[in-house]
Amino acid sequence: MNRPTRLVVLVSGSGTNLQALLDACADPAYGARVVAVGADREDIEGLARAERAGIPTFVRKVSDFETREGWDASLATVVERFEPDLVVSAGFMKLLSPTFLDRFLTLNTHPALCPAFPGMHGPRDALEHGVKVTGATLFVVDAGVDTGPIIAQVPVAVEDDDDVESLHERIKTAERAMLVDTVGRIAREGITVEGRKVRIGAGAR
Ligand code: GAR
Repeated sequence: MNRPTRLVVLVSGSGTNLQALLDACADPAYGARVVAVGADREDIEGLARAERAGIPTFVRKVSDFETREGWDASLATVVERFEPDLVVSAGFMKLLSPTFLDRFLTLNTHPALCPAFPGMHGPRDALEHGVKVTGATLFVVDAGVDTGPIIAQVPVAVEDDDDVESLHERIKTAERAMLVDTVGRIAREGITVEGRKVRIGAGAR
């Protein structure tokens, strides 16, 4: 078997998607391992989860840098140290520069069915719009906001009595399963991205 795919996971909050990846990676047959977890803030549960799992962590706060470019370059430098095959942005609430994205194949999970409801408030915006089905999307990050080539999506029905929290929690349950399943397949089978078409299992990674 090939060596495990090296994942650097970026988080900004509770890190339940990270936890799902950590749990999956405990099985060597999964084909990936989390080599580091990074965050843009301190004292978050996502970092605590990594520490409990014995995974190295790093924090780069935008406010500690004079410019956004300086922050981004520092983030890229520390990520590079861990030699990732893939960077997974899992609830990481910062945009990454084209320079960062040119260096690392970066995936992001978003709690809506892209291209609908991009940005920070996918579940709220879906609820306000009155859609009956929303969900989660895993995509390859590009220079836009939640605009990159789509790798996988999972639908979630909106219930009549949903509020933002109940809807987001149900999305997150589906999102975690999709993330674990898809990242595992990418790790074991490779991914190719041609324009907007993403294929898993075509060989290269
Ligand atoms: C997830 O639902 C993720 O899709 C979302 O934040 C949540 C993080 O949960 N990200 C975005 O909204 C980015 N636009 P977690 O910290 O428990 O994994």
